[in-house]
Amino acid sequence: MMALQQASAFLVLFLAALLLPPQCAQDPAMVHYIYQRFQVLEQGLEKCTQATRAYIHDFQEFSKNLSVMLGRCQTSTSEYRSAVANLALRVERAQREIDYLEYLREADICLESEDKTLAEKLIQEAEEEKRIRTLLNAISVTAVNCTSEADDPPSDERQKVSSSLNAVSQCLCHSPHFISSHGHFIIAHHPKKCCDNMLMGIKSLKIVKKTMDTHGSWMKDAASSSQKVYFLIGSRNKTLWEFANMRAFMEDSTKPAPRKLILTHSWQGTGQVIHKGFLFFHNQGTLNEIIKYNLQKRTVEDRMLLPGGAGRALVYQHSPSTYIDLAVDEHGLWAIHAGPGISGHLVLTKIEPGTLGVEHSWDTPCRSQDAEAAFLLCGVLYVVYSSGGHGPHRVTCVYDPLGTIGEEDLPKLFFPRRPRSHSVIHYNPRDKQLYAWNDGNQIIYKLQTKRKQPLE
Ligand SMILES: *[C@@H]1O[C@H](CO)[C@@H](O)[C@H](O)[C@H]1NC(C)=O
Ligand SMILES: *[C@@H]1O[C@H](CO)[C@@H](O)[C@H](O)[C@H]1NC(C)=O
Ligand SMILES: *[C@@H]1O[C@H](CO)[C@@H](O)[C@H](O)[C@H]1NC(C)=O
Repeated sequence: MMALQQASAFLVLFLAALLLPPQCAQDPAMVHYIYQRFQVLEQGLEKCTQATRAYIHDFQEFSKNLSVMLGRCQTSTSEYRSAVANLALRVERAQREIDYLEYLREADICLESEDKTLAEKLIQEAEEEKRIRTLLNAISVTAVNCTSEADDPPSDERQKVSSSLNAVSQCLCHSPHFISSHGHFIIAHHPKKCCDNMLMGIKSLKIVKKTMDTHGSWMKDAASSSQKVYFLIGSRNKTLWEFANMRAFMEDSTKPAPRKLILTHSWQGTGQVIHKGFLFFHNQGTLNEIIKYNLQKRTVEDRMLLPGGAGRALVYQHSPSTYIDLAVDEHGLWAIHAGPGISGHLVLTKIEPGTLGVEHSWDTPCRSQDAEAAFLLCGVLYVVYSSGGHGPHRVTCVYDPLGTIGEEDLPKLFFPRRPRSHSVIHYNPRDKQLYAWNDGNQIIYKLQTKRKQPLE
């Protein structure tokens, strides 16, 4: 438009320059012709301007239409996006549902086989007990005769007694034993439940639930038949959530709603365990106090101070708030803490859950450095390490206080790769699987086990 106007102005100037000289103005026909040409030119210009205006108008309308259409497109894109997100959520829920069904199915199978093996075990145990009794009788009679007849019993007699005792200890699930030179004998530990499994590998992983909380712990009672699932969010809190069962835990929204329990004290770290209706936890703000809390009465049942320098350092380098880790296995309650020194070695302590007395304590060769979690299974400590705090997660230190697992038996134990180190990994001896927390995910690891090699 501007260009056109400029062009016409230029044309006018040019023509004026041509026409103005006075010697040319005498020709009226020529002037008339030139006026006519001007009129035609003006009309043409007018038309051109109108057409340009129309084009501009059309273009504006078109761009308006376009922006309206773009707006519509955007809303449908976001609708589509939310629909996709919704679908993903439903797929995930379905996946968990499937996992849960599979879990139930396997639990049923386990229960059946456990019932059967339990009956068999009871019969076996009764027979073992009879055998042990007669054996013990024979030994004590021999022992009495030894001591009464001579101060120093003949060495072959002692040999006989010792081998009998070895047999006894085999029956008693590899309990350590002693025989004094005077023929008296002591059987140290007397575990009620025999168990001789050792871990071979991780069979599968199930993500049971997802939350936003990086740290926390979750568990079932490790020593009763309760179906309840307990949820302890965060590494310092006193609010405990109790879900009626695994299904309620997996689907937050369904009834029955979880029960909220406010403890009298806050816990520290993620090392809590539940044993026969009691929650055991490290009391926050204390160095080494363990509280035994009655979940039914909602009162503190008992408390103890864990000896051996417990609570001065983190148990595991990659677990940033746990100073005392507790564990339950087939043999009962244990505590794990780091010993003195920069790369402190882990100290394992067996605790009597009824009286909170310390039964025994062991300095293990397992280091705290690069460790992220640990658990006990059949009286054996398995420590999970990860270099730098992320995967791969693997058990590279196994400590057996009774020395029944040899180095050569140790399997290569890898956990499936996870984005972060575990907040907690605890074994549940009742359903024989691991309960773990990793980056807000509540995970169950199923295990592969085998029988320990018998003692030499
Ligand atoms: C703009 O949209 C209207 C209807 O919304 C339509 O009548 C018109 O022709 C469209 N204009 C252009 C330039 O697409
Ligand atoms: C133990 O000694 C008594 C007599 O002192 C004897 O009658 C008994 O047979 C002895 N028992 C064994 C197992 O040697
Ligand atoms: C304790 O946990 C509850 C939820 O379980 C949460 O609402 C609360 O903020 C937590 N308190 C602290 C101090 O983190």
